[in-house]
Order: sequence, then structure tokens, then C-alpha cells
Amino acid sequence: MQEKKILLGVTGSIAAYKSAFLVRLLVKAGAEVKVIMTPAARDFISPLTLSTLSRNPVLSNLFDEQSWANHVMLGRWANLMVIAPLSCNTLAKMANGLCDNLLLATYLSATCPVLVAPAMDEDMWLHASTKSNLDKLASFGTRIVPVEKGDLASGLNGEGRMAEPDQIIQYITTNFFLTGPLQGKKAIVTAGPTYEPIDPVRFIGNHSSGKMGLAIANELHYRGAEVTLVMGPSTLELSKNGISVIRVNTADEMYKACNEVFQEMDIAVMAAAVADYSPETTADEKIKKKAEKLTVELVKTKDILKSLGEKKKPGQVLIGFALETNNEEAFALEKLKKKNADMIVLNSLSHANAGFGHDTNKITIFGKKGEKFIFETKSKKEVARDIVDKIIQLHYA
Ligand code: CTP
Repeated sequence: MQEKKILLGVTGSIAAYKSAFLVRLLVKAGAEVKVIMTPAARDFISPLTLSTLSRNPVLSNLFDEQSWANHVMLGRWANLMVIAPLSCNTLAKMANGLCDNLLLATYLSATCPVLVAPAMDEDMWLHASTKSNLDKLASFGTRIVPVEKGDLASGLNGEGRMAEPDQIIQYITTNFFLTGPLQGKKAIVTAGPTYEPIDPVRFIGNHSSGKMGLAIANELHYRGAEVTLVMGPSTLELSKNGISVIRVNTADEMYKACNEVFQEMDIAVMAAAVADYSPETTADEKIKKKAEKLTVELVKTKDILKSLGEKKKPGQVLIGFALETNNEEAFALEKLKKKNADMIVLNSLSHANAGFGHDTNKITIFGKKGEKFIFETKSKKEVARDIVDKIIQLHYA
């Protein structure tokens, strides 16, 4: 970020305390930072703190008795405008072109790219108006750093926390100032369950949430890769953060989506919990409850990971998952070999708080040259970081 000019907008949110860390990290990374605060932001963090850390006066007013702040030139001065935290109120104003303070005037006149890091309580975050305002912002070309899940100012635990400053820095680096280690690489990630239809209203599915796959897709994206996420029928909300998403329902649709694009990929991570069997036939109409017994004939689905392993060319890196309850290591190593993968991530169901639906996971990674890395139970986000670190270390270092 050497010599990049960054305009940081701070709005009235309890997360404004994180802006101090963000300014520090930006300055440390070599950027020149100017801070604009909304009037409400000044109730949450002192302008003196931000001006000291940014080594520039903090701007707040469109004009005072002596002068008029040139918001047009501010927008032109910057290589990037970052608004972090972005409150619900400022979001709504930005989405509707309101202009009653210096930050909003600068946003409207900015010719540089704009990035926002929303921060709000979960109920506000989930409100339809927030979603529609964010969609509007995205349609203007404004980039959005995904919010995090965790403790909120209300005392509740949920979605809406502003991304941590180091995550924002990573987002900036990989999206605007391209230096990520996976820059120029293309990656495909599968995530979530698959639903195999029995009739128009019933299906065979599993408890996979898609959290692990989504965390890996986000992490690969943060490290600079161009990511395609093939997502099964998960209820997770996907942020508009530059990742291409292909939605599928069945194992067969996932197979087709992956095989269609695999050739152009450098990295493929198969984190989905794909159904191993699917009903041989799907009834066109709802099956009525008549007989005492109902038999549904199942046939094996195509193994996506294996099919990619068969096609894999030198230079392509293929990662699979193994979910085992017994003989974990032996089964994982067998999968590594049988499916011609480069790495297998073993997910153990025998550990509390690991696996389906949990926010944490405990993994062991096996590499094809006999490498073995054991990790502690961590959040799925941290696990994703460990997995991507190993991809880089073993294949791109
Ligand atoms: N997988 C896949 N396509 C399938 C089934 C599984 O791509 N039809 C992938 C998963 O995404 C995962 C890996 O294969 O990366 C391991 O899946 P798993 O179901 O544990 O292994 P199987 O080979 O199906 O063996 P088993 O069910 O006997 O453990």
C-alpha cells in the first residue's frame, strides 16, 4: 500500500473504536490517510485520536465560518475511499443520494473506488431495507466488506459485526492494490449439501451448512484468487464481495458446474457434502401415502472430486475433504490416493464442536508427499486460513 492515498470515512457506530486500529494499520502499510467523520462519529471516537494516528487533520464539516471543505478535491485526491464503520443511517443516505454532511458529499463526488465495511446489530443487518440499500450501493459499484458474526453491542451474538481491521486491510490489498500471493490464480470451491429429489416436495439431503466452503472461498478471495463458489442449497447469506456464485441443488448439477470450468482453474477445493446416492427416479407428482412400505431405489452419484482428479493436469491443485467417524487417518489417506487429490482435509466427527452446522472445526491436513498437519479446534474462518496457508506453502511458496 506504499504511497496510496486513502480517505477513511468514519460514521456513528460503536465499531468506530476499530477505526483507530484501521488507521494505524493503513499508515503502517505505507498509505497516506485522511479521515472524515460524520457528526455522530465524534460521539464514539475522538477526532484527536484519529488525527494523531493519521498524521492529518480530521475533517468533519462541509464549511465553517472561515472556509469551505473541498469535497470534490478530496474525492479526487484519494486512490480509495473506505467507509468503516458504515452505520445503517449513513448506508440509507448513501443509497438515496442524501448529502447533509462532508462524508456524504465526498462519497457523491468521489471518482475513486469506494469500499464500505458495515456495522450494525443483527436485527438491523437482517432488515429488508438494509439488504435493499446494500444492493443499491453494490449496483453503484461500491464494494462491501462482509460483516462478521460474533458479539454485538446489544449484548446479543449474531451477524452484523464490522470486519476486523486486518480483514479490511486484506480486502483492500487483494481487491484494489493487487499483491495477494494467489494473484492471477483461479479457484473453484464447492460448498453446502446437495438435495436429491424424491418427488416435487421431498428430497434426500444432509446437515451441511456450507459455512466451511464459504469461509474457504472468502479466504482464497482475500489472498488474491479469482474465486468461483459452487453452492448447494444452503441458507447462508452470500455477500456481494467479488466471488462468482453458481447455485446448484443436486449432486449432478454440482458435477456439471465443476466439470464445465475445472479446465481453467488452478485450485479446486471440494468442501461440499455431496450426496453419495440419489433416487433412481424422481416422481413427477407428490407420492401419496398409500402402501405400508415405500422403497426408494438409490443409485450412486458421480464423484466430483474423483472426476476432477482424473482430469487434473500438472500445475492444478486439487483438495478434497474426508468426514470420518472411525479409522480416520487410513480412510483419509485412501481418499487422497483414490481420488488423485493433492491434499485431503480430514474433518473429525469425533471432536465436540467440529463438523456440520458448528462454527468451529478440527482438522488434520494430509499432503500427497506424506505431509501431515494437525490443527487445534478453531473457528471455521481460522480453519479456512490454515487450509489456504497450506495450499500456498505446499504449492506456491
Ligand atoms: N465428493 C464429491 N462427489 C461425491 C461425493 C463426495 O466430490 N459424489 C467429495 C466431497 O466433496 C469430499 C470428498 O469427496 O471432498 C470426500 O467425500 P466423502 O463422502 O467423505 O467420501 P466418499 O468418497 O464418498 O467415501 P465414503 O462415503 O465411503 O466415506
